[in-house]
Amino acid sequence: MIIAVDGPAASGKGTIARRLATHYGLGYLDTGSLYRRVGMGMVLRGEDPADEKLAKQAALALSATELPDEQIRSEQAGAAASIVAANQAVRAALRAYQQGFASNPPGDVKGAVIDGRDIGTVICPGADAKLFVTASLETRAERRYLELLKREGAADYTQIEADLAARDERDANRSASPLIQAEDACLLDTTKLDIEAAVAEAKALVDACLAQR
Ligand code: DC
Repeated sequence: MIIAVDGPAASGKGTIARRLATHYGLGYLDTGSLYRRVGMGMVLRGEDPADEKLAKQAALALSATELPDEQIRSEQAGAAASIVAANQAVRAALRAYQQGFASNPPGDVKGAVIDGRDIGTVICPGADAKLFVTASLETRAERRYLELLKREGAADYTQIEADLAARDERDANRSASPLIQAEDACLLDTTKLDIEAAVAEAKALVDACLAQR
């Protein structure tokens, strides 16, 4: 069983996907972390994430790049990830790993929840259930602001909103697997929902998809 969860940054898709995985007893893959490891690995080596050749090499050598969680989750890693993610050769290098995880997730589980930008459209077009999780730019910026404030003690709302808008623009308008709602995906707008309500709604949508199989 495969559940695909796509959507823009800070929409709540990661938390929702993790909770769905626990609820249905499935493996979980956060594909954004793969792009973050490629992009941030380059930044740490002093490389430019926009350098297509070096980015491809970094993606092909990804299994050798382990980074601490705080480095992967940083805003700098998110921005670098969004740049390398527009590179078709990087996406191709990461595709087999993602599809391998989907068809054969580690552990004694009967499937996987995979979150990202192109899971329902490119990586797992035949997924049993597809969610497209979104929220207004203001709501997503506020969530990220509160998260950063808690983690780092300071945050700049205006900068966060501008960075999210720039990432939305890059992720949705690139030619390589842009962020787009799959035709058969259910839309889940979390703008007015707290996380518990969003997870409850996600479960209801997935149950409805599974009942139709
Ligand atoms: O989900 P995230 O914020 O961790 O993703 C970081 C960046 O990686 C995002 O701006 C776009 C890119 N990405 C992608 O293009 N395709 C995916 N499946 C996952 C992430």
